[in-house]
Order: sequence, then structure tokens, then C-alpha cells
Amino acid sequence: MAMIHSGDAYNSVFDVKSYLQEHFFSDKPDIQKVSRFHFDMIHQTLRKGNFTGPRLLEIGGGPNLGNAIQACTRFPEIVFSDYTETCRQSVEKWVKNMPDAIDWSRQIQRTCDREGEGSTWEDRQALLRRSIKEIIPCDLLKSNPLEPKVYEPFDAIMTSYCVEAASPDKNSFKESMKSIIKLLKPGGILIMFNTVNESDYTAGQAHFYSLQVDEPLVKEAVVEAGCRIVSSTISDTYSEGYNGERVTDGEGILFLAAIKQ
Ligand SMILES: C[S@@+](CC[C@H](N)C(=O)[O-])C[C@H]1O[C@@H](n2cnc3c(N)ncnc32)[C@H](O)[C@@H]1O
Repeated sequence: MAMIHSGDAYNSVFDVKSYLQEHFFSDKPDIQKVSRFHFDMIHQTLRKGNFTGPRLLEIGGGPNLGNAIQACTRFPEIVFSDYTETCRQSVEKWVKNMPDAIDWSRQIQRTCDREGEGSTWEDRQALLRRSIKEIIPCDLLKSNPLEPKVYEPFDAIMTSYCVEAASPDKNSFKESMKSIIKLLKPGGILIMFNTVNESDYTAGQAHFYSLQVDEPLVKEAVVEAGCRIVSSTISDTYSEGYNGERVTDGEGILFLAAIKQ
């Protein structure tokens, strides 16, 4: 049985490049289905509710710019947060266009093609670089996850696969949701992805902990935190493996959008 890491271990053993390759970048059809699911859910939600506003917070974004590529067209001031320093550095290198930054151009091109609204990927790349205003630490186990920073509530919050990675148990999952929703304006939109019943996932050779959550628990946590759920969908498309190794034991992905009351 592989050792399962969490907490501080993220800062020593989380391999950013392997994580992105195994879960998002690979051309394997089941991994591309995950990317398509993210695209469709975010696109439909933002368009249907015509959500827009200046300020969006990404909580526990890891090294992943996938959600922000879409969101920056409607939210031109993005605060990007993550617990792990190497993840924050990876995003910072990209924003500063440093030579050893991860190349997001294929994902940006793919997003613009899927939108089909005539944006060029070069323009979107420039827009995203301008939109990410701050890259800051966050810890969902603190009552203000963005401590020591204090912000006016945001117009939108996005978070994927983070609350279950941070929470030791179901009660803590619910407390973390409350802390997240305190950072959202009344009328603001929460866009969230969770893995269903996942207990571990990989980043390269290392395995990481995930709290097993299901749709009823996530919905209960979001409602108890003061939100009205506007849509939710489960995708059974989750990667079976990468190069012969399984990358998650999750059963699927839950997407949920909710408005703070
Ligand atoms: C599965 S990754 C998800 C990353 C990204 N949101 C994505 O969709 O690819 C889990 C993330 O949770 C973060 N994390 C772990 N413990 C945390 C904590 N206590 N507070 C906030 N984030 C945490 C890690 O740094 C990591 O980036």
C-alpha cells in the first residue's frame, strides 16, 4: 500500500508537472473528457446566469490555470490562491512569462476553440496574464483561509478538488465550506468541482489523501454555508489511468454552482 500524503507533505512531494500531465494535459480520451466537462459546466453556468463582476477568487487552485482561462473573460481581477508553494510558483512563473514556466498554450487554444466566439489564444493568454492580480497562500483549515490577508467579499469563487484534499473529516469539510462562503458576496456565485468518493490521487509517484465525499454531503455543506444551489451535475468520466497506473480511485466528478443568499 502506497504512503498517502497530505498537509505539509504537499510542499515537499507534490510534483506539479506530473499532476497536470496525469489529470489534465494528457490527450488520453478519458482525461480529455474531464477537461471537456470542466469547460461545459463553467461555460453554461457563466453564460446562463450572465455572471460577471470584477473580482474572482480561486481557492486551492494548485498549479492549474484551466478554470481561470475561461473565467478571466468575465472577471478581470483574479486572486489565485493555493496552499503549496511550488504550485503558487508555477502559476507565478507563467504569469511572468518566465522561460521555465509550464506551457498553457494548448489548453488556451482548446478553450478558445470550444467557445467558438472568435477569441484568439494569444489575446486570451494576454488577458489571463493581466487578470491574475495576486497569487497568495491559502489554508482551508484556518477560519480565514487567506490569512493574514483580508479582502472585501468576492463576486465569484471557483474551487476544484481542494476542499476534500484539505479536510480531515466531514465536519471539517463543512467548516471549510463556511469559511469559503464568508469570502463571497451575497448574490455571488460559487463554482465548485469535487471528486466523488475518492480516497487518494496521484501526482507522479506520490499518492495524496482525499476525503471521500458524495453529492448529498457536498450539497448539505454548501446549503449550510448559506448558499442556494442553482445547478449540479455528476460526470462518470474520470481517468482510469495514465501509463498503466491509476491516478485516482474516485468514482466521478461532481460539479456544483450555488449563489450566496
Ligand atoms: C487535487 S489538487 C487540486 C488543485 C487544483 N484546484 C486543480 O483543480 O487541479 C488539491 C489542492 O489542494 C491544496 N491543499 C492541500 N491542503 C490544503 C489546505 N489545508 N488548504 C487549502 N488548500 C490545500 C493543494 O495545495 C493542492 O493544490
